[in-house]
Amino acid sequence: MLQRGLSWLILLLGLALAAEPGQAGGHVLNIIDPEASAFNREVRGLLVWVMGFAALVFVVVIGALTYVVIKFRRTGKETSEPEQIHGNDRLEVIWTVIPTIIVLIIFGLTARSMFRLDQPTPGAMVVEVRGWQFWWDFIYRDYGVRNSNELVLPVGRPVRFEVTGGDGQNYDVIHSFRITSMVGARDAIPGVVTHIEVTPEKIGTYYGQCVELCGASHANMRFRVKVVSQEEFDRWIEGAKAYQATPPADPVLARGEELFKQQCAACHAIKGVSQGLPQNPDLTFFGNRTTVGAGMWPNTPEFLERWIKNSPGMKPGVKMPAYPTMSDEDVKAIAAYLMSHKVEGLDFSNLDRF
Ligand code: CUA
Repeated sequence: MLQRGLSWLILLLGLALAAEPGQAGGHVLNIIDPEASAFNREVRGLLVWVMGFAALVFVVVIGALTYVVIKFRRTGKETSEPEQIHGNDRLEVIWTVIPTIIVLIIFGLTARSMFRLDQPTPGAMVVEVRGWQFWWDFIYRDYGVRNSNELVLPVGRPVRFEVTGGDGQNYDVIHSFRITSMVGARDAIPGVVTHIEVTPEKIGTYYGQCVELCGASHANMRFRVKVVSQEEFDRWIEGAKAYQATPPADPVLARGEELFKQQCAACHAIKGVSQGLPQNPDLTFFGNRTTVGAGMWPNTPEFLERWIKNSPGMKPGVKMPAYPTMSDEDVKAIAAYLMSHKVEGLDFSNLDRF
């Protein structure tokens, strides 16, 4: 009964803290969804203990306070001051020792959970995660594939994230990597590699968020994680490995390519078209993405064209300049060109959201 009540309390607290209004269309995130990962189950178990002790302390303190207030209240029949006493050594020792024991128990449980969650899994897929102002880069080390802002993972396979930030020189701001309802956060520190592991257990699209204040668009520094079947992942990763852009035949796309090479290629990489620079998002698989602006807006022509034209107006602090003089026709051509780059036959837009 107590356990169930506590679970509800934790769930309500979680919902209140994690509700993401607006973008998610009113849907709520369960930050300790027990079906998403073993990580969440461990943290949930720990929270039950902490909430249990918190409830115990609350009941004892409020109970004692109520008792004292009632028992020693002024009755109006007093004839003199009450007896003056120095205190009670026994009581003071008790109320020092019991909380100390509680803190030690919580410390022990927390340390146990930390060691359990920190066990490296042999054979885990390694993904390098790099935080930049204000977007995320994901590099599949084992496959030589780079994909910015959206992470595709196979269900049931352990992943080891090796998390770092910027290049340790010009972009040295600390971020923190968190897949909100799947696994806890790890700081992305320039020049330092931290790690965290998780095995995704449920197919779906997950929200990711930077959780370390890092500048004007910290709150807008998001990403998405697409957990798919092993078969779909294999198709994605094989397609991504083999991907080579070819010059488009369609005149709009050809115009898009020409403009991309003039305006975008110095900063952004597209495999087979441009090298770009590491401090800017890779656009090779843009056509497979479901979001624009690092997890912020749905990847529709409307948002993509607005973004190309005026990204600093949409997201404060982005490094990309606005292109106010670019014609609508040219913007549409670039957008269409970006969308033409993708691994064919995959659609990540209809996954359940967690
Ligand atoms: Cu990056 Cu907050």
